[in-house]
Amino acid sequence: MDRRTFLASLAATTAVAGSSSLPAAATPAAAAGRGMNILMLTGSPRRHGNTSTMADAFARGAREAGHTVYRFDAAFKNVHPCTACNSCGMDGPCVFADDFAFVREHILEADMVVLVSPMYYFGFSAQLKRVIDRFYAISSRLHTPKKAALLMAYADTNKRKENCVLTHYNVLLDYLGWTDAGHIIAPGMWPAGAIKGSAYLDQAYRLGRSLQA
Ligand SMILES: Cc1cc2nc3c(=O)[nH]c(=O)nc-3n(C[C@H](O)[C@H](O)[C@H](O)COP(=O)(O)O)c2cc1C
Repeated sequence: MDRRTFLASLAATTAVAGSSSLPAAATPAAAAGRGMNILMLTGSPRRHGNTSTMADAFARGAREAGHTVYRFDAAFKNVHPCTACNSCGMDGPCVFADDFAFVREHILEADMVVLVSPMYYFGFSAQLKRVIDRFYAISSRLHTPKKAALLMAYADTNKRKENCVLTHYNVLLDYLGWTDAGHIIAPGMWPAGAIKGSAYLDQAYRLGRSLQA
């Protein structure tokens, strides 16, 4: 995809933002009647923080349901931010040889991608956003049917604040043609560990456990 096509598709995506999800298309796993390959991208620098703990619960449920979960903890990986050199042409090798190679290897084959992030200044954490921006080099090949989910925690107790992250997530899915399989959003979580004992962990577990290819 060239940049003109990319911009045109972004404009089209913006036009449908806020509408209902795209119709669910068959993922490769559904077509083959097997468990899904799930790629989980986490964005918190707290190793045992709230979103990491939600990710653990989700992964446990998904594995119990027969799926394979690959996890990439972006905050502990070396992923250079995209520098817009456009050497990849949105479908080619990236000039940076770093840990994004793991994402590149698994995301193209993934039936489902789970985005896990704390809210940082009303958006995804920079650690996760860095990874999402590197999708640019494989943009053309990411527009295939996949499921997606969002696990997010934030400190505020005003539920309206979550709309910024949710809107970004929904527009991204519309753009990529992925289908939302569910999102667990935990407000009122400030210190690491606040999530323990809350209903959100069980919700994350049950979302993972409920997944069907
Ligand atoms: C840099 C930074 C920015 C944050 N921005 C927000 C914010 O905009 N709104 C909010 O409610 N909480 C914000 N928080 C709080 C985190 O979202 C909250 O502590 C969350 O539970 C952290 O999840 P974690 O334990 O998985 O890292 C911020 C925290 C940090 C460190």
